[in-house]
Amino acid sequence: MDASDLPRGIRSFTTLPAHEHEDYWDSIVVPPQIKDRLLGTALLSMVHGRKLASAAPACALNGLVVLAGPPGTGKSTLARGLTRTAAHALRDSGSTAVMEIDAHALPSEMLGESQRNVVRLLRDAVPELARRGRYAMVVIDEVESFAVDRRTASFDTNPVDVQRATDAVLEGLDRLRAELPGTVLVTTTNFPDAIDEAFLSRADLVAELALPDAPTRQEILRRTLTDLIAVWPDLAGLAADEKLLGELALATEGWDGRALRRLPFTAASADPIAARHPGRLGADDLRAVLKL
Ligand SMILES: Nc1ncnc2c1ncn2[C@@H]1O[C@H](COP(=O)(O)OP(=O)(O)OP(=O)(O)O)[C@@H](O)[C@H]1O
Ligand SMILES: [Mg+2]
Repeated sequence: MDASDLPRGIRSFTTLPAHEHEDYWDSIVVPPQIKDRLLGTALLSMVHGRKLASAAPACALNGLVVLAGPPGTGKSTLARGLTRTAAHALRDSGSTAVMEIDAHALPSEMLGESQRNVVRLLRDAVPELARRGRYAMVVIDEVESFAVDRRTASFDTNPVDVQRATDAVLEGLDRLRAELPGTVLVTTTNFPDAIDEAFLSRADLVAELALPDAPTRQEILRRTLTDLIAVWPDLAGLAADEKLLGELALATEGWDGRALRRLPFTAASADPIAARHPGRLGADDLRAVLKL
């Protein structure tokens, strides 16, 4: 669907599985239990949510997943990847409607308008699009600006307005769950403390992503160089140099996944000749970034 046709607050809409291959899910290196748990939580809601809501309403799932963690740890990529992976897993029983919400499009300076935007989004726009698939998933990136903690709303916004907008989010979620049980909301945040407690308490899963440890950093670096072979085949030697990768992994303590993926470019941008020919990068160019 063309972005200009989408209702306010919806950034994108698609029905999955799609033909083109997107490897968001596989591109993120995290402990396998995290991916299993994310996929398991989503599938539980998608497959059993409707039945549970009608036959055992007291046990109904909320269908809400929160991915929390520092910047650059793969939250947004995993959230998007989860929709692809879950839709793929369920492809034989129907399509999945997937939409991404732009949480920043909703707050308004006008009194009461933020609340009205949230109501319109969750009462009208989301259900309308969600019904276009057998299953539905909604991604809300940076959800802290959507479900602002009502106790600590910042001073530059009208606290009453924030309060009402967050109330509207909670009401909207509850209505969505009642009307379209089994719909899964996948949300991300760098600031779990800024999210309203009542929102967090509705989460079926809060998955905490940490900065990568040394073996994970080594794997991310290996994958990065391996991916780049498609563009610069001469990098194959570096990608296979486990000793170098191990050294780099040890020296990048505290780095996030985003910075690690950028390392070859940081090395190649050190001088204009290297920038013209990244395929010629050597082990020492990578070491130089870390002053090794
Ligand atoms: N664990 C990881 N394994 C491999 N790549 C990673 C990992 N973490 C992050 N990346 C890479 O870093 C980039 C940024 O990832 P992403 O945008 O998903 O992070 P984020 O946690 O949403 O960050 P932010 O909090 O700043 O929004 C992507 O290119 C992604 O592939
Ligand atoms: Mg993100």
